[in-house]
Amino acid sequence: MADRNSEHEADFEKRFNEVAQSGYTALSVAIGSATGLFNTMAALGEAKTSQEIADAAGLKERYVREWLGAMVVASIVEADSERDTFYLPASRYRTLCTTESRGMLAILCEGLPVMCEVYKDLVECFKKEGPNGISYLKYTLDPPFIEALAMTFLGGKPPKDLTNVEQIKRLLETSSVVLDIGCGRGAPLCFMARDFLKSEFHGIDVAENCIETAKCRAESMQLKNVTFHIGDALESVERQDWRSKFDIVYCRDVVHDMQRPDLFLKGVKNVLKDEGYFVMVEITAHGKPAKNMDCPVAPHMYAASLFRCLPMSLAGNGESMALGAMRGNERALEMLAEVGLKCFLSEKADTLNTAYYCKKN
Ligand SMILES: C[S@@+](CC[C@H](N)C(=O)[O-])C[C@H]1O[C@@H](n2cnc3c(N)ncnc32)[C@H](O)[C@@H]1O
Repeated sequence: MADRNSEHEADFEKRFNEVAQSGYTALSVAIGSATGLFNTMAALGEAKTSQEIADAAGLKERYVREWLGAMVVASIVEADSERDTFYLPASRYRTLCTTESRGMLAILCEGLPVMCEVYKDLVECFKKEGPNGISYLKYTLDPPFIEALAMTFLGGKPPKDLTNVEQIKRLLETSSVVLDIGCGRGAPLCFMARDFLKSEFHGIDVAENCIETAKCRAESMQLKNVTFHIGDALESVERQDWRSKFDIVYCRDVVHDMQRPDLFLKGVKNVLKDEGYFVMVEITAHGKPAKNMDCPVAPHMYAASLFRCLPMSLAGNGESMALGAMRGNERALEMLAEVGLKCFLSEKADTLNTAYYCKKN
């Protein structure tokens, strides 16, 4: 880490201006990603006027022209001032728009509007007399953002963090019963149900709108081996009718959102069969902020935790562990050990996450 203590005032000012300007650029990038403008420019493949770009994207020229301005001053789009044309160099496609339809890093920028949506609520939460947290119902932009992120990781296939582990893949290929807790809009589960026809899949999520979308997805894919349920994670592992029902319980990017992750993890064993597997996927991080300096997406992850995960976990009545997404890999392992879930493997699942593989017995 660079020694920042001896940094000159003017150098900090310059560095800080880059931070502030990048924030504004990222917000405009989110617009380009969400409206498909990067894809349109990549498909056009050559310099075009704002009118031609707007027409190709099916958007209003005046807005597109303003957005192009933001992209030009950030050196994301190149401009020819004489001809009044704009051009996206091919070397920038992969970052901005070629994974499925949108680039992974451009999608990360779409997390900013998710945060803007609750900005005022979060300011109130900081105040001593303010509310404890923010209900997940307020995050209307969160499900499509999370889904877009999931889609870039999945690439139309079942989650690699399950299929890469031989014992789990073998179970999926036979006739296992699988539960995805906090399944969101259901893409991972539907891809599994499509590819592992002998197995039976269940997804549960507290967000009704997510489950509605998941059901539509399953229907449009004509899947007969997947069922979606609306419900709370903790209640799901306490269900009597689900006792010892599942061979695999999968929980991706959810545990840190919970009010009482300790009670949830304790309950997971109830719904697992004796030889069942619990796969928990959580943000890769160190518990101490200074140890995350080398992680290129750490600012995004801390902001996501501050604006989303932490206030969501504090929104309910009663005590909350207020874990936050960045509590660290060591703490995740400790929590699993505390409830007697034996973690036999933990490894990086993707650029953001670590997967923890546990067996009940
Ligand atoms: C970050 S998203 C992850 C979605 C999905 N697992 C994925 O990886 O794409 C977290 C999901 O967990 C759900 N969730 C949060 N707390 C929950 C709880 N207590 N019970 C059930 N679902 C919950 C949210 O509604 C959201 O869909």
